[in-house]
Amino acid sequence: LANMPRRRGALIVFEGVDRSGKSTQTALLTQNLSSHQIPSILRRFPDRTSTTGALISSYLSSTSEPELSDEAIHLLFSANRWEAVKELEDALLNGTTVIVDRYAYSGVAYTAAKGLDLNWCKGPDKGLLTPDLVIYMEIPIEVAATRGGFGGERYEKIEFQEKVRGCFKQLKEQDPTWRVIDADRPVEEIQKDIVGTVLEVIERVKEMPIGHDLWS
Ligand code: TYD
Ligand code: MG
Repeated sequence: LANMPRRRGALIVFEGVDRSGKSTQTALLTQNLSSHQIPSILRRFPDRTSTTGALISSYLSSTSEPELSDEAIHLLFSANRWEAVKELEDALLNGTTVIVDRYAYSGVAYTAAKGLDLNWCKGPDKGLLTPDLVIYMEIPIEVAATRGGFGGERYEKIEFQEKVRGCFKQLKEQDPTWRVIDADRPVEEIQKDIVGTVLEVIERVKEMPIGHDLWS
């Protein structure tokens, strides 16, 4: 297309168990990119502000027996990502780097941790925008749990988080584009590694087409 911009932004995904430091690092990253004059936006999944997000939020905050089956809530988390595709894609085409706090890998890891088949879990997110980089915040659960403690939301339990971590490990083995970051270090030290990697990726993908083939 004649009016296609020559530079696109990069899709940078952060993944990890609860309390691994994703929110702190993604916020710092947007600040650092802005000081490098690189336009970026920060999004998170679940996006609790949409209609599907409100259902997800009430599912997560309730401690009673869930009204939604494991399959149904899995599909809602996926729908919550699908409804954001256009906004994310427009930003990328516009030259804006998109930083995302959790993505389809969390979708798979948290549902597979309940015992559902990993390949079934991948199904609904097939064909979603392909990240240019997945930063996995690696941390022992004991360390994550001491960081202000887990809150009262569903899933915020040590035994469950251990299972989630195991599922992330399986996904990591199937995907060579993951960059594993040791998240059990001082905030600034971690951020320095992240900024270095992210700047490289933004430069490397700027003239490449956007991928629409997650797990295809
Ligand atoms: P989280 O990022 O921890 O939100 P907050 O920072 O507001 O606590 O996400 C909430 C929970 O949702 C978290 O335990 C992981 C889980 N989750 C899924 O089960 N499936 C998904 O697809 C996503 C994105 C998150
Ligand atoms: Mg949380």
